[in-house]
Amino acid sequence: SLPKNVRLVEVGPRDGLQNEATVSTQDKVTLINMLSAAGHSYIESGAFVSAKWVPQMADSSEVFAGITRNANVTYAALTPNLQGYAAAKAANASEVAIFGAASEAFSQKNINCSISESLARFAPVMATAKTDGIKVRGYVSCVVGCPYQGDVAPAEVARVAKALLDMGCYEISLGDTIGVGTPDKVNAMLDAVLAVVPVDKLAVHFHDTYGQALTNIYVALQRGISVIDCAVAGLGGCPYAAGASGNVASEDVVYLLNGLGINHGVDLQALAKAGWFITDKLGKQPSSKVGLALGAK
Ligand code: HMG
Ligand code: MG
Repeated sequence: SLPKNVRLVEVGPRDGLQNEATVSTQDKVTLINMLSAAGHSYIESGAFVSAKWVPQMADSSEVFAGITRNANVTYAALTPNLQGYAAAKAANASEVAIFGAASEAFSQKNINCSISESLARFAPVMATAKTDGIKVRGYVSCVVGCPYQGDVAPAEVARVAKALLDMGCYEISLGDTIGVGTPDKVNAMLDAVLAVVPVDKLAVHFHDTYGQALTNIYVALQRGISVIDCAVAGLGGCPYAAGASGNVASEDVVYLLNGLGINHGVDLQALAKAGWFITDKLGKQPSSKVGLALGAK
């Protein structure tokens, strides 16, 4: 049976905007405020990574300083190492996320180190965050396929997910970075992961490159997973995964959940408005079918 409640993790301001033309700090701040007003309780609002690698996220400190904080909202940041963690803490991020991969080739291209080196770099972040009382989320990228390596073995995904859990991540987000998953592959991957990570510690993070994200989300819901990452207007992609389109659009996920009678706390109209706001700034239309259907009201 499907979960009754789902927690949405809005990653548009980070995963989305990291791979779009640069928008102003003020427009990012306005977007985040619109997303919290729409009812999102978790907004990944920036990344404290090298500005040489991802210039779009270079103003994350200013973004965190500019947002109007809602006490019920978690404003999270991506932190690849201690340097990023320190910057996120200084910016008063509510919590942070570390990000590893199930593919060696992607790990090298994305964070310039091997999988085992990345886990070693995360260890001091985990230790410091524990002392500071800051929660850490963990991502595993390339859980179905890798842009450099092709297929990724479910056992590798399970191994990295378990390693992040054992390090102390309270939740592991399984990322289909290049959106190549289909239900059978996703189920095979989930079989392996669910054997070692409890279902209530898992989230899914589907990119919609091949239009399969909603279908795969439905599969994950059937497996009992109740945390879904999504990006307003289907923004973004990944700078180290050529051709990757954005995450599944938050509007489309909300429409699906509404149809299934699953609670999530987000107002669809207000969300769609946020999608039109930011895509207008980017000079394009939302990638969300639901956003397009509702129009720019
Ligand atoms: P590196 O070059 O190996 O790092 O990069 P380094 O430690 O050798 O340092 C080199 C320079 O970077 C130094 O500066 C450091 O100070 C600086 P320099 O002395 O040359 O002037 N540096 C930093 N600057 C700011 N913030 C930091 C930081 N750390 C070092 N935290 C590093 C390693 C990880 C930093 C680099 O590879 C990087 O920033 N990568 C960014 C990767 C990224 O953001 N990718 C996109 C997000 S992941 C994703 O989208 C997938 C996900 O959505 C899930 C999915 O879809 O699968 C999460
Ligand atoms: Mg992603």
